Amino acid sequence: MPAFREWPAPAVLDGFLMSRRSVREFKDKPIAHGTLEALLDVARRAPTASNSQKLHWIVVEGGNKVHALSVEAMNWLLNAGISKAMVEHWESGYDFILRGAPVVIMACTPEDYAWGKQDCAIALTFLELAAEARGLGVCWAGYLTRVAESHEPIRKALSVLEGYVVRGGVMLGVPKFSYRLVPPRKQLSVQWN
Ligand SMILES: Cc1cc2nc3c(=O)[nH]c(=O)nc-3n(C[C@H](O)[C@H](O)[C@H](O)COP(=O)(O)O)c2cc1C
Repeated sequence: MPAFREWPAPAVLDGFLMSRRSVREFKDKPIAHGTLEALLDVARRAPTASNSQKLHWIVVEGGNKVHALSVEAMNWLLNAGISKAMVEHWESGYDFILRGAPVVIMACTPEDYAWGKQDCAIALTFLELAAEARGLGVCWAGYLTRVAESHEPIRKALSVLEGYVVRGGVMLGVPKFSYRLVPPRKQLSVQWN
């Protein structure tokens, strides 16, 4: 593919990167399948160690299917022991695991591939930014990722390929609200040697 030369001005790109934020409330609206394909097409261009490109993606489309994953993950979390407050939150009907998102995308690599976590995190970041550029809201799916790493019923529910492991994922949808602020950040910690 020929390289694209119309780079955004640094101030535009910096502003975009610094203004992104996690979105945890979504409209009850699907994301067009073609949009998901476009996002994955961007994500597959992300760098991987030695250009090995070992990622395999799992896309779960539909709020009901997504929520079923939360229910399964919650079974695991209850066994693992979570706070009373979290249990009460869940029992109040709030899905704090996948937040009512209409789509979840998980990135997997072969279990014996040493750079799996790094490659997946980079590719998911590409995907996240491409989604945000299209007006979609995204949040990393940390709970689901942790559970999917080892819990067989979740691996089964996701139909994870034999010999593959889930390394990361995001939930996404049309944001319910538009935000004026982004979360605060700590001062830079750096040493210039
Ligand atoms: C690896 C990773 C896992 C995360 N998992 C979750 C999660 O399971 N649920 C959630 O609501 N947010 C999750 N987040 C979002 C973080 O809480 C969020 O990025 C952080 O609070 C900073 O806020 P911002 O993304 O709006 O800048 C995760 C973020 C990362 C990077």
